[in-house]
Amino acid sequence: MSYTPDHSRYKQIPYQRCGKSGLKLPAVSLGLWHNFGEDKSLESSRKLLLHAFDRGITHFDLANNYGPPPGSAEETLGKVLSDDLKAYRDELVISSKAGYHMWSGPYGEWGSKKYLVSSLDQSLRRMGIDYVDIFYSHRPDPDTPFEETMGALDQIVRSGKALYVGLSNYTAEQTSEAVGILKSLGTPCLIHQPRYNMLDRWVEDDLLDVVEEEGMGCIPFSPLAQGLLTDKYLDGIPEDSRMAGRSVFLRTNALTDELVEKIGKLNAIAKERDQSLAQMALAWLLKDKRITSVLIGVSKTGQIDDSIAASSHTEFSEDELEKIEEILKQG
Ligand SMILES: NC(=O)c1ccc[n+]([C@@H]2O[C@H](COP(=O)([O-])OP(=O)(O)OC[C@H]3O[C@@H](n4cnc5c(N)ncnc54)[C@H](OP(=O)(O)O)[C@@H]3O)[C@@H](O)[C@H]2O)c1
Repeated sequence: MSYTPDHSRYKQIPYQRCGKSGLKLPAVSLGLWHNFGEDKSLESSRKLLLHAFDRGITHFDLANNYGPPPGSAEETLGKVLSDDLKAYRDELVISSKAGYHMWSGPYGEWGSKKYLVSSLDQSLRRMGIDYVDIFYSHRPDPDTPFEETMGALDQIVRSGKALYVGLSNYTAEQTSEAVGILKSLGTPCLIHQPRYNMLDRWVEDDLLDVVEEEGMGCIPFSPLAQGLLTDKYLDGIPEDSRMAGRSVFLRTNALTDELVEKIGKLNAIAKERDQSLAQMALAWLLKDKRITSVLIGVSKTGQIDDSIAASSHTEFSEDELEKIEEILKQG
């Protein structure tokens, strides 16, 4: 049966300007790091993607290496684009990245022009599209001059293979330097994608100030700390959770007694706010106007609905903020 998107999709979620650019992103965006590889059925991935689009999520975030195996998440998106979303390409913001290991030999990772340009060509082929909306340098390369990496991003935009460029996992200092080079080349940096959540707040030291000064947007990844900032691990490890699965990025050693206690206390505050803990954790990020969108992952359609609802209640009282701060500072 052919797919028709929900007619009310643009009334369900706010769209926020990405820094000082012309581009708006949904307050909640969907990443395809987990649950869109060959380890999942195409049908389950399709269901998640179409449900997200029906709920107004216009931004899908990928990277060359998402899978497993690496590259398969882009292939999955390519199939869903060609089967169901072809007519809606202009309603979507699709991002990809290169930086981590993708293929053997000296040209398959880090930040050389050789790697970035050829990796994006491969990503476009896997997704079956002519351009991505945002292309990221996935991580800074300590051995390649930023002039070369940023020069590659500039060339990619000029070649029409990306509309905008972004940086991920760059420190504040590295961001300032890279953004300066991009500016001098005439290709502004649209956005930064750092890890940021209640349990990992490094960006608060100075990255968020740089992002604001430079007029960039910010899209935190793993805003739920891969699911730790939800109520799912309060009574053990559910069978259908990421921690119980094969992901090497979230293992049982992350779930210490102290953390469970902390999550329990946060959950109690969320309940007082009539929110799920996931909603409160996302709202806590979105309360800061420098945050354009929160980049979630999902394994079930219900998680999309739950997370989107966070965007309608992002105000916190002073008292709530103080209580949260106290809990986060413990242990
Ligand atoms: N730039 C980078 O270096 C980088 C690194 C990592 C990620 N990312 C990007 O960020 C995206 C998101 O990362 P992430 O998957 O770690 O994000 P996350 O949102 O912190 O964690 C996702 C997991 O949280 C659980 N979840 C989500 N919504 C929920 C809800 N409402 N209620 C209960 N549980 C919920 C699900 O766990 P279960 O699976 O257990 O159900 C889901 O798989 C990635 O897909 C990728 O696009 C970028």
